Amino acid sequence: SNNDRESMMVLNSWASDFFVQELPKADFAYQYFVERGFTEQTIKKFGLGYCPENGEMAVAALKAGFQEQFLERTGLAGKRERGGFYDRFFGRVMFPIHSLSGRVIGFGGRTLRADKKVAKYLNSPESEVYHKSFTLYGIFFAKKAITQSDRCILVEGYTDVIQMHQAGIENVVASSGTSLTEEQIRLIKRFTNNITVIYDGDSAGIKASMRGIDMILQAGLTVRCVMLPEGEDPDSFAKSNSTQYLADYIAQNEVDFIRFKTALLLKDAEDDPIRRAEVISDIVSTIALIPSAIEQQVFIRECSRLLDISQDLLQVEVRRKSLGLV
Ligand code: CTP
Ligand code: MN
Ligand code: MN
Ligand code: MN
Ligand code: MN
Repeated sequence: SNNDRESMMVLNSWASDFFVQELPKADFAYQYFVERGFTEQTIKKFGLGYCPENGEMAVAALKAGFQEQFLERTGLAGKRERGGFYDRFFGRVMFPIHSLSGRVIGFGGRTLRADKKVAKYLNSPESEVYHKSFTLYGIFFAKKAITQSDRCILVEGYTDVIQMHQAGIENVVASSGTSLTEEQIRLIKRFTNNITVIYDGDSAGIKASMRGIDMILQAGLTVRCVMLPEGEDPDSFAKSNSTQYLADYIAQNEVDFIRFKTALLLKDAEDDPIRRAEVISDIVSTIALIPSAIEQQVFIRECSRLLDISQDLLQVEVRRKSLGLV
């Protein structure tokens, strides 16, 4: 019910405040953020916190009068078999996830341990207040800048958003590791029709970019991409370079999806004609997803130039794909 949802959001907001208060008490956790290059102001703005080890949050929440059922339904705590509750995010640094209107609907919690035995990030489960596929991390802080710049920069993770904001680039949101969904694109579309994808410079990031491009085009938005140097993500790149360099890098390396795809795909195909043909077919499929025939035409022209194939032939192929004939 609406009452239950409200109770869950009040609890989330209370828990977020609790985690914020715990952060300075756990100096190693605070220092973790400092070492990542986050300023005091940034830590405060994004409400970063720490969830203590011994179930202190659940105890304090119950003491504050929150009902057990809401601790469970928000995924903040779980019931122990021998009674009592444990904090699901224990020992993790906390990233609250805000709704469009700025309310805390969930959390991402990052482990401080370097070993790979535990998941790096633990996220709130799906609930009445948190729907992962409808959520973009950072949207509350980014929406104004997205409208003003008429562009949304899409990144993968929490720290990518935070580091870019700190560098003064505020029109940034993250799909938070899930593959981009139609609902997330629709959310962006409320503010702009233009998306720039800056995913991690690794094979997973490239693959996710390719899929993202198709989803965004199909939704009728424009998409550009920026390829980061291998092994970098927007967080590491922004941290190790000046704000000016970052802004220049994005401006100089932002390309439309045709250039992005051809450059990457052709690099793999080299001079093998069979693989070149596959690349062309792949790009034709992507162009066929664009709802506007006029825009299709623009990209057919560019594709023809970049790949040295006749426009007429591309046109025929795009039409066949659009009609589902191939
Ligand atoms: N993610 C997740 N669960 C994981 C790994 C990743 O939910 N086990 C999500 C997080 O939202 C994360 C994003 O996917 O921010 C991108 O993943 P990755 O690039 O691996 O992490 P980073 O954001 O770069 O995190 P960090 O810099 O802290 O290592
Ligand atoms: Mn809902
Ligand atoms: Mn990654
Ligand atoms: Mn990353
Ligand atoms: Mn990272």
